[in-house]
Amino acid sequence: MEIQPAKTEDAGALTETCRRAFDSDSEFGAPGLGGPPGYDSLEWNSNVINNRYLQYYKILADREIVGGFIIADRGLDYQVCERVWIEPDNMRRGIGTRAFNLIWNLYSSADLWVLGTPEWNTRTNSFYQSIGFVQIGKTHDYSWDGIYYEKRITDGFPKAMSMIEDIRDRQQRVIVEGRVERIEGPRSVKSRKTGDDLKVADVTLTDDTGSIKLVLWNNQIPQVKNDTRIRIEEGYVKSYRDELQMSVGKWGMIITLI
Ligand SMILES: CC(C)(COP(=O)(O)OP(=O)(O)OC[C@H]1O[C@@H](n2cnc3c(N)ncnc32)[C@H](O)[C@@H]1OP(=O)(O)O)[C@@H](O)C(=O)NCCC(=O)NCCS
Repeated sequence: MEIQPAKTEDAGALTETCRRAFDSDSEFGAPGLGGPPGYDSLEWNSNVINNRYLQYYKILADREIVGGFIIADRGLDYQVCERVWIEPDNMRRGIGTRAFNLIWNLYSSADLWVLGTPEWNTRTNSFYQSIGFVQIGKTHDYSWDGIYYEKRITDGFPKAMSMIEDIRDRQQRVIVEGRVERIEGPRSVKSRKTGDDLKVADVTLTDDTGSIKLVLWNNQIPQVKNDTRIRIEEGYVKSYRDELQMSVGKWGMIITLI
């Protein structure tokens, strides 16, 4: 069994294995046939193979494509497993587990891996736990309630994570955890670019080392509740009137920690 970077000519076989794998979720809690966006689309899979922010691998057994693995490349220190699947005839043979082991070797400097999966999916929750992922919280921005997992490869504090006192102006890809001490707003503002009405709220996020203002927009606002602990991933920081302000990037995540 091996993994290799996917090529455009693999898109057909990858789409077919992906469609069959995710459609079989209907036996493990899914409301019906279906999968994540583009899972059965040749065009979507071809585009992702050629997308420079995503890394798409094919999983081979006896030289046949039996599955795929898509990683959102977040740099050297942490990575996101966006999607992994094994086609049904090859499931439960340890291939998914071996694929993760090969990927962890390939990304040897990443000490933090994260992923989300629907709460209803009895198979994926069991699979991720079996390979050492630990639930850290829940996400609320999808139509399904997501269980959010991380796997720390080493014992130390992950290199990509920050304590609040270490956060600097213009820092990108911030991963930080803290308690929601206060939420001000939401209030309405007009977008300077489009004139649209936007909602904005200011959150005070605190950890043992300090506090920072977290600015939330529109559908991010209901994801955060007072007096809970949250993690922000893909945060970015700007200074405004001498105050550091963190926002959640387009690909960012807000996780309510358990
Ligand atoms: C999740 C998935 C990738 C697992 O791949 P796999 O190669 O079948 O997994 P493995 O054989 O390595 O299983 C390892 C362990 O996971 C758990 N597991 C896997 N399938 C399971 C199932 N159907 N029920 C319960 N536990 C399961 C078991 O603990 C298993 O160990 P065991 O077989 O010794 O009991 C595969 O089921 C799949 O493609 N599912 C559909 C697509 C999907 O939901 N992908 C993930 C979201 S992006």
